[in-house]
Amino acid sequence: MDAIKCIETRSSVRRFKPDSVPQRLLEQVLEAARWAPSYKNTQPWEVVVVSGEKKDGLSRLLTGLLEEDAPSQPDISHPTSWPEAIERRMNEHLLKRLSAMGVDLNDPAMRKRSKLANFRFYGAPHAIFLYQDAGLTPWSIFDLGLFAQSLMLAAHALGLGTVPQAFLTDYAPQVKEYLGIPANKRLVLGISTGYPDIRENDFRSTRMPVSEFTTWLE
Ligand SMILES: Cc1cc2nc3c(=O)[nH]c(=O)nc-3n(C[C@H](O)[C@H](O)[C@H](O)COP(=O)(O)O)c2cc1C
Repeated sequence: MDAIKCIETRSSVRRFKPDSVPQRLLEQVLEAARWAPSYKNTQPWEVVVVSGEKKDGLSRLLTGLLEEDAPSQPDISHPTSWPEAIERRMNEHLLKRLSAMGVDLNDPAMRKRSKLANFRFYGAPHAIFLYQDAGLTPWSIFDLGLFAQSLMLAAHALGLGTVPQAFLTDYAPQVKEYLGIPANKRLVLGISTGYPDIRENDFRSTRMPVSEFTTWLE
């Protein structure tokens, strides 16, 4: 697939076919992702791919923690405030996406259901967790972001769907323990993946025009 087309047609997939992806195909995705650039070629990425019964057990663990209102403890804290323009864009997007999915943000039960859907990996047969040493600087988180995007583009080019999920890091200590990731690592992102089950009316996010975020100087 042409690179521009791959970038422009990738979108977060939140419905998957139940079929497992052969490990060789997931390896191919990771083999491509490792070519992401990184600060001084430090390659600060570590990966766990979880599938099958192990993945179902994680889903049960996360769902249970949510049900018992356990406090969330992500290794990268949630933002508590945003610059005004960004907050407006975020809220507009969220409203459009959730109303397209029939979720009313003012209804706490629905908000919870949407979190539960995250914790069920949106039905994906695999989840990929990205982590790194907790002592690394923000440059390394940046590098892991580049790795994540390369991974998602490679997956898309190979016919797989992905959705990056910060929610999957909400209960970082418990997730790390369950996945055998040492406590001194920083859990950065979970990415659910599998064969996408795309429907005609699925929500597609929008973008601001280039002119809104670019200044040209000569
Ligand atoms: C770091 C990061 C964390 C995200 N966390 C979640 C999440 O927890 N749950 C979810 O459904 N989508 C999550 N998303 C997906 C974004 O909502 C999505 O990328 C954005 O709305 C743009 O839509 P697109 O990916 O379809 O282009 C996350 C994306 C990123 C980059």
